Amino acid sequence: MKEQSRIAVVTGSNRGLGYAIAKKLGQRQEVQVVLTSRDEASGRAAHEKLAQEGVSADYHSLDVNSDQSVETFTQWLSQTYGKVDILINNAGVNPTGQIEESSVLTVKLETMLSTFTTNVLAVARISQALIPLMKEQNYGRIVNVSTEMASLTITPNDYYPLAPSYRLSKLGLNGLTVLLAKELQGTNILVNAYSPGWMQTDMGGENAPFTAEEGAETAVYLATLPDGEAQGKFFAEMRKSGDAITLNW
Ligand SMILES: NC(=O)c1ccc[n+]([C@@H]2O[C@H](COP(=O)([O-])OP(=O)(O)OC[C@H]3O[C@@H](n4cnc5c(N)ncnc54)[C@H](OP(=O)(O)O)[C@@H]3O)[C@@H](O)[C@H]2O)c1
Repeated sequence: MKEQSRIAVVTGSNRGLGYAIAKKLGQRQEVQVVLTSRDEASGRAAHEKLAQEGVSADYHSLDVNSDQSVETFTQWLSQTYGKVDILINNAGVNPTGQIEESSVLTVKLETMLSTFTTNVLAVARISQALIPLMKEQNYGRIVNVSTEMASLTITPNDYYPLAPSYRLSKLGLNGLTVLLAKELQGTNILVNAYSPGWMQTDMGGENAPFTAEEGAETAVYLATLPDGEAQGKFFAEMRKSGDAITLNW
């Protein structure tokens, strides 16, 4: 473990944006990253790849949809580090490829529920587990990975299938961000959401204009915010402006 480290947990960091965030955070001198995944084999492979890329991280399995897994993980974290400073809620699912997702009138309600389960309820679950540890130190930076597709004010109308399951789930995540921030007002635990933009990952596909590394930039910015900075805000990806800019919810 690095000296005087900030302990950073990144959910779903075996691939895609999560891996890129783990790498960028882990490259910082003061951050000790814990790479996590629900599938142990792919998580360990990603951990090994990170090491080959010069980043010394830790690894533990974590299925954000499982009470048991989150409990085991939290106990391990407590025993190993005695604290957690940064939580990146990156793990997510997107069923938008399904034809039913083109309309609210055809979307399958069970798909809405399963998408909501991972993209919203799991974030509530891990927040309930880890925020008490953050409160012990009165320090925390929580970054919820959302999408501008879920903004109620800038909702662009040129998106491919309407994507009700995905968009409504991220709307729920945005709401959770605001409520948590309200509850944590006055503490040094800052919770914000951001939109990483359309990226070349398994979810985004190869036609996306940006890399996961580019999408990771704002996550690192929000994970390392100085005390007293943004609380309960929704950020755009920084590459658009070269600086941190907030979006309307
Ligand atoms: N790609 C884009 O263009 C884009 C745009 C805006 C926002 N986002 C958001 O960015 C985040 C990452 O997306 P991505 O593009 O990197 O997607 P991805 O390539 O599909 O990766 C999703 C990650 O989430 C993990 N995951 C899913 N369910 C999980 C669970 N129950 N427990 C633990 N991990 C779980 C996956 O693990 P497995 O490998 O086990 O499946 C995988 O590591 C998501 O929240 C997504 O909504 C992406």
